Amino acid sequence: MIDFLKSEFNKIFEKDMESIFFSPGRVNLIGEHTDYNGGNVFPCALSLGTYGAISKRNDKKVRMYSLNFTDVGIIEFDLENIKYDKKDDWVNYPKGVIKIFKDKGYIVDYGFDILVYGNIPNGSGLSSSASLELLISVILNNSFSFNLSTLDMVKYSQEAENSFIGVNCGIMDQFAIGMGKKDCAILLDCNTLEYKYSKINIDGYSIVIGNTNKKRGLADSKYNERRNECERALKNLKTKLNINSLGELTEKDFEENKYLIENDIDKKRAKHAVYENQRTLKAVEALEKNDIKLFGKLMIESHNSLRDDYEVTGKELDTLVSLSLKENGVIGSRMTGAGFGGCTVSIVKNEFIDDFIKNVTNDYKNEIGYEPTFYTVEISDGTRKLV
Ligand code: GLA
Repeated sequence: MIDFLKSEFNKIFEKDMESIFFSPGRVNLIGEHTDYNGGNVFPCALSLGTYGAISKRNDKKVRMYSLNFTDVGIIEFDLENIKYDKKDDWVNYPKGVIKIFKDKGYIVDYGFDILVYGNIPNGSGLSSSASLELLISVILNNSFSFNLSTLDMVKYSQEAENSFIGVNCGIMDQFAIGMGKKDCAILLDCNTLEYKYSKINIDGYSIVIGNTNKKRGLADSKYNERRNECERALKNLKTKLNINSLGELTEKDFEENKYLIENDIDKKRAKHAVYENQRTLKAVEALEKNDIKLFGKLMIESHNSLRDDYEVTGKELDTLVSLSLKENGVIGSRMTGAGFGGCTVSIVKNEFIDDFIKNVTNDYKNEIGYEPTFYTVEISDGTRKLV
C-alpha cells in the first residue's frame, strides 16, 4: 500500500510525498441511535479505512486528489478563504476540519498536497466521512505540532461535521475512529464521555459486515427527524422528571413515566433509546463473561427495536438480517450505523463464513434484485501516522 501511494502521489502531484497517515472506518456492535440521547455505544475501529499521503507546500493552497473520485480530479482551495462549496464535493470534509482548527485559534500557515485513498465503501454507514475528518485532524496536529489530545481532535472533527457539513451527528463515529484500539471495542458513555476498552474475545467467530449496497438517499434528513422526535419526548418527560437525557432512564423509569410523552411516535422513539442503552450495557457484560450467545441475542433485539420502534431499517437491511440469521453458525446480526440502507454486522462461526456469504448473497439477490457485499473485518487502532 505504501509503495502504491508513493508512486500515485508522484504521478498526480509530480513530486515526492513526505508522509502517510491512516484513519480507520468504524462498525458499531450495539448501541444504535443512543449517542445523541446521552446513552452508551459499543463501536470499534476497522482495518478498512482512509489513507492520506501528504507533502507540505510553501504557499497557502491545499490541493487534494482522491483515488476514489478520480473523475473530479484535483480540487484546490485557499487556506485564507475556506467556505462550503457543493461543487468541491468530498473536499468539504477536509475544509470543514481546517476551518474549525483555524476558528479555534490554531495557526495553519502553509498548505499541503494530499492524496487520499479509502477502502471503506462510501455511503455504506461505516463512517468514511468521520474517517476522513480524523485523518485531516491528525495530519494538522502532527504537521504543526499542536499537541492536541485525541479527544480534542475527535470533538473538532464532530464539530466540522455538525457546523460545516450540516449533519447533526453524535460523537460515536469520530470517537471510535480517533480512540480505536486493536482487538477492542469501546464502551463509551456519550453523556460523560467516560469510556473503557473491552477486548473482543470471540474465539472461533468473526465479525462479518454485510453491505446492502442500497444508497442512503434521505438518510440525513431522516436522521435529524429522529433527533427531533427524541428531543420532544425528553421535553415531555422533563415536565416531571429531573433528567438531562433519555440515557439517564432505566426501562422501569421509562415504563412508569411514558404517559408524559404526548405523541405516540415520539414515545416509540424514546422507548428504543432507553431500551437500547440498557441493552448495550447488558451486551458488554455478556461479552466480558464470554457469553457470546447472549451477546448475539441482544444484537437481534437491537435490530428489532430499530425496525419496529425507531423505524430506521427498511426492506434491504431487514432482508439482509433475516437471511443472515437463517444461516448456520450465525449467533447475531443487526443493522449498524444510522440505518436507512448501509450495512449490517453479524457474528459468524469461522468455519461457516464461506457458506454464509455464498448463501446470503444468492438469497438477497433473489429478493432484492442486486447483490450485497461482505467484509470479514479486523479491529484496528485509531487514526495514526504510518510513515
Ligand atoms: C451515525 C451518526 C452517529 C450515530 C449513528 C447511529 O453514524 O454519525 O453519531 O448517531 O448514526 O447510532
